[in-house]
Amino acid sequence: MSNWQPDAWQQHAAKQQANYPSQTALNDVIDQLSQLPPLVTSWEIEALKSQLATAAKGEAFLLQGGDCAENFADCTSPVITNKLKILLQMSLVLIHGLNKRVIRLGRIAGQYAKPRSADTETINGVTLPSYRGDLINGPAFTAEARVPDPVRLLRGYGRAAMTLNFIRALSDCGFADLHHPENWDLDFVHHSNLSDEYQRIVGDLSSSLKFMETLGGADNTEINRIQFFTSHEGLHLHYEQALTRRVPNRSGFYNMSTHLPWIGYRTAELDGAHIKYFSGIENPVGVKVGAGMSDEWIQGLVDTLNPNNEPGKLVLIHRFGAQNIAEHLPRLINAVERTEKEVLWISDPMHGNTETTASGYKTRRFDNILSELEQALDIHQAEGSVLGGVHFELTGDDVTECIGGARGLDAEGLQRAYKTQVDPRLNYEQALEMALAIVDKAKR
Ligand code: PEP
Ligand code: CO
Repeated sequence: MSNWQPDAWQQHAAKQQANYPSQTALNDVIDQLSQLPPLVTSWEIEALKSQLATAAKGEAFLLQGGDCAENFADCTSPVITNKLKILLQMSLVLIHGLNKRVIRLGRIAGQYAKPRSADTETINGVTLPSYRGDLINGPAFTAEARVPDPVRLLRGYGRAAMTLNFIRALSDCGFADLHHPENWDLDFVHHSNLSDEYQRIVGDLSSSLKFMETLGGADNTEINRIQFFTSHEGLHLHYEQALTRRVPNRSGFYNMSTHLPWIGYRTAELDGAHIKYFSGIENPVGVKVGAGMSDEWIQGLVDTLNPNNEPGKLVLIHRFGAQNIAEHLPRLINAVERTEKEVLWISDPMHGNTETTASGYKTRRFDNILSELEQALDIHQAEGSVLGGVHFELTGDDVTECIGGARGLDAEGLQRAYKTQVDPRLNYEQALEMALAIVDKAKR
């Protein structure tokens, strides 16, 4: 893309953008952001891309997960460590059960902007702009909170940097040491039905580790630290643009705000601003794929986002709903096959399975999520394709947002700890159960 520039998207219609009262104030913030250091490096981005290429072949498995929307107030030690812990625990279960390397990719350190189904929200006759995530405005239903404030872009960059700094420190030693998986225990480990199964897996892995070390075959530097990558929806294009840079000794532009930005389902039109922006960056990129996509549309996405058929470049994140996957996934797999390009397919069993309870809670049923996942595994196998990973909205905390799971959470139980501002997340126990269920299904 010789003439592509980070602001090329501005010539195209951009959906889901904030309406700032002052263009001057916005420009000033973008200038400041453009001077601040990158959050990630091109080496890390390229390393993730090569690992994703192995997942596309079925030799590794991608675990992508985290909040639907991070918020600034949750930039705290317990929230970050709990999220890291549950992702590490799930990855141990998957490594053990699938016998594959697991690539850990958080929806973290930048997941602050949200697409909304309506631009405004009306309560008791009062209409205000919708909440679009902490990067843009505030969730409180007041005119002040809902006005988009560009200074939030700087605060979001700061929160992302703080989160990433903490994750990097934790990943590097001590906490991440596989010899001490007890560091990753969450409170529930001692009072959950799943505890025994998880502890058995950890015990198994510890003995294998000891065995390898006795033989002198284990590389300690790999075992004392973990690799962890970040991702967020690249929705707010001014923010993404300001962090898109050239680097020495490599060609092209890198989005240095995250390792893998993805395009949401609502902003994936071929002629839209998001596709224009994403077509020019070197990062591996994700795009959400759903039932409303035609064969031509998905083929256009593959050709535009991975014109050179670069391995590991494109992740197709499909999200249909348990009722719709059987109708649409085989068709879309075949359409992509006809492009003769390699992609990494992963399943997001969350976003097609959202419903609202009689008392007004937005929720998802564990059984529908699991059903979509199981069907995804079966369909890819039947089509001779590979399901190379999963994408979850989850938290390491004890929330009550999704119905079902081993503890049998029902619709009445949702009010106990319903905390999400946007979509319902699996709690720690449901998330671990999901990892065990994936292994169980893959073995069958
Ligand atoms: C999301 O991942 O939070 C999201 C909004 O998903 P989708 O674009 O698939 O609706
Ligand atoms: Co969501």
